[in-house]
Amino acid sequence: MTVKEVQEEIIRLKKEKDVCILAHAYQDQAIFEVADYIGDSFGLSVQGRDAANSNIMMCGVRFMAETCKVLSPEKKVYLPNPIAGCPMAEQMSVEDLREMKKKYPGYAVVCYINTTTELKTECDLCVTSSSAVRLVKKLKEDKVLFIPDPNLGSYVAKEIPEKEFAFYNGGCPRHIIITHDDVLAAKKAHPGALLLVHPECRLEVVAEADFIGATTAIMDYAKESDAKEFIIGTENSIVEHLQFDCPDKMFYPLSVKLSCMNMRVTTLFDIYNTLRGVGGEEIVLDDKIIDSARVCIDRMIEG
Ligand code: 13P
Ligand code: SF4
Repeated sequence: MTVKEVQEEIIRLKKEKDVCILAHAYQDQAIFEVADYIGDSFGLSVQGRDAANSNIMMCGVRFMAETCKVLSPEKKVYLPNPIAGCPMAEQMSVEDLREMKKKYPGYAVVCYINTTTELKTECDLCVTSSSAVRLVKKLKEDKVLFIPDPNLGSYVAKEIPEKEFAFYNGGCPRHIIITHDDVLAAKKAHPGALLLVHPECRLEVVAEADFIGATTAIMDYAKESDAKEFIIGTENSIVEHLQFDCPDKMFYPLSVKLSCMNMRVTTLFDIYNTLRGVGGEEIVLDDKIIDSARVCIDRMIEG
């Protein structure tokens, strides 16, 4: 089958089976073309909750599919490739969190959405990279335990100097390895290009950026900017997507290291096979876990 033939079959099957296909901004261009909605973690949560379809397919990573299930327990939610996890979401256990809570009593526990559903049952507020500053600013507590990403947490802390922060020693294994030297090398190769970075990068990288934002915010900024050249400091798929959207501008990866194998593992055929009932995984979560994790996710969406 050709790419076009598989895409046509997906479009026919998703209508027949009442499936809404959601795609994270890091997915492939071929997947974008069959998706009903493309966005960042925050946008996907809202779309998953509001989709009128009885079934949702989340093309992204496991925590995103789980978030969808928590927000829409009555819908069937599918992850087209079951090995698409997020190492950051899985790096902190409930026991680790309980230990930290003992160490930091009275702190509001804020979790990045890149966490397991089980961990969310013990948190006060869930945030995404696009909503973290706005939501943490509104917290009545002046002390915040931010898990698991200390880079996003430090970025938030810098924007909210009036609050005190404690962090877990985690982070995204892709963004965290980008160094100041990588920035210098990219700027030397592309003098004059604007540097746009995701706040999952280290502070030394974020400090050099012309714009800091979540995946969708980076894309919107590049599209609206009058500048012609951009170095992209997030997963390298965004370089290609922007190049499709803005053929007259130039986009360069900040580093070859910014490639997330978990985000890259889902294929068009995984989607096709899931729709045919011969692949993928239906997300099943315990009702009590859903009810309990939902509290901090609802708080995020209600804003
Ligand atoms: P956003 O979708 O919030 O930009 O986060 C990027 C990411 O790492 C998703 O796993
Ligand atoms: Fe997880 Fe990082 Fe990959 Fe996002 S880019 S899915 S945070 S490992």
